[in-house]
Amino acid sequence: MKHQQNTELETFIQNYIQITKASKEIAQKFRLRLADNRSPLLFSLPLKEISYSIVGKRSSGSKIWDIEGNEYIDLMMGYGVNLFGHNPIFIKQAIADQLEEGIHLGIQSEVVGEVAELICELTQMERVTFSNTGTEAIITAIRLARTITNRHKIALFSGSYHGHSDGTLVKTQLENETIHTVPMAPGIPLNIAKDVLVLDYGNPHSLDIIKDNERELAAVLVEPVQTSQLNIPSREFLQQLRQLTKEADIALIFDEMISGFRIHPGGAQAWFGIKADLATYGKIVGGGMPIGVIAGKATYMDAIDGGMWNYGDASYPQVRKTFFAGTYCKHPLAMAAARAVLKHLKTCGVSLQQQLNQRTSQFAEDLSAYFEEDKLPFQVKHFGSLFGLNTIGSFQGCKDTDLLDFRLVLLYYNLLYRGILLRGNGGFLSTAHTDEDINSVIQAIKDSITNLRKGGFI
Ligand SMILES: Cc1ncc(COP(=O)(O)O)c(C=O)c1O
Repeated sequence: MKHQQNTELETFIQNYIQITKASKEIAQKFRLRLADNRSPLLFSLPLKEISYSIVGKRSSGSKIWDIEGNEYIDLMMGYGVNLFGHNPIFIKQAIADQLEEGIHLGIQSEVVGEVAELICELTQMERVTFSNTGTEAIITAIRLARTITNRHKIALFSGSYHGHSDGTLVKTQLENETIHTVPMAPGIPLNIAKDVLVLDYGNPHSLDIIKDNERELAAVLVEPVQTSQLNIPSREFLQQLRQLTKEADIALIFDEMISGFRIHPGGAQAWFGIKADLATYGKIVGGGMPIGVIAGKATYMDAIDGGMWNYGDASYPQVRKTFFAGTYCKHPLAMAAARAVLKHLKTCGVSLQQQLNQRTSQFAEDLSAYFEEDKLPFQVKHFGSLFGLNTIGSFQGCKDTDLLDFRLVLLYYNLLYRGILLRGNGGFLSTAHTDEDINSVIQAIKDSITNLRKGGFI
């Protein structure tokens, strides 16, 4: 780094620590005992002194307050959970009412059937079951696909995230001029990677590879729009995937953890007009409580319980079942919150998402206009109310932050210093964000960029 950059960075780091020192103290105090992988961004040596999470105290609407009383406009929004902002009264009340009744696990939750019906109504899926996280929902959807198709391989796309199970934490690697699928992290067995094809999202060649492997493929798992690559056009590719998987009896699984209930009440399936065989949801639908949802065609979902049957006749569960379980599945608090969320979504109708998508679109347009006018090396993309910032061109700055451009990392911390909390290089708008919030975000971005320019980073 140049001398000017070093000096400005040092000043910024001191100022940042000054207002967030209590969070830093907490990080240091508990580091020995608390193995904590949740730091705001990847560790980078030049930013070591500010590598700690801000400790939150309270949240309401579009805001979070930290333990020192600093106020943040939250754009992280629980990694996409808080579509209605923090602590909306209708969810808070539903959870409080259930808490009053008790948290009885194991016995059936009174509202679980209603929640299942509401999900089917909104997503047009036939049957539903519940897990505790998105990761579990993905594990289960894949298992259902393998059970029903009697095949073992799955295909997914590089750049996607499908949770943290071994089965999806894989990547491609070039070895002796051949592409192999290998584990993405230490501790993941090589054998698991052998059953996964990692393909290029949006690339027609991927369709050929699926075709070549159709007899072995149980499922194609796809984030309808990749959170990490919002700029890749998806509609046509998804249509082709649908056609191909239908012809080959491969289960098409939409991972709707982010798009579900956000882009449209019926998620990406409704948005693109494409019906998947299975879809997984989480985040928004749990209203802040941990939840995962596996929904899909009865053909696949019947492997959970053996399928439909009635009392008083000769019917019985006839479909071959797989294994599915979880102590906390259908947790009464999660079910109560989910019912409140789904009823709210149903009452508001599609206009809730339409308005929010439109506001995000305007936000992205305004920001893009500023980036272009000022010839800044940033780009903003969005899919509905999810947005992401990218850098254009390379930056000869810092070797340690190879995954996220150092300028984006600095922008992240500069925004945090100015009371704006991003999710890495982007974030989510919620229905709680006001025009004033959005204007403050744009102003904070401008002020941060002025600071980056002063430091010679742009
Ligand atoms: C697309 C997608 N799939 C799966 C997951 C995993 O969900 P969870 O963190 O609830 O396990 C996430 C989480 O961010 C996600 O974004």
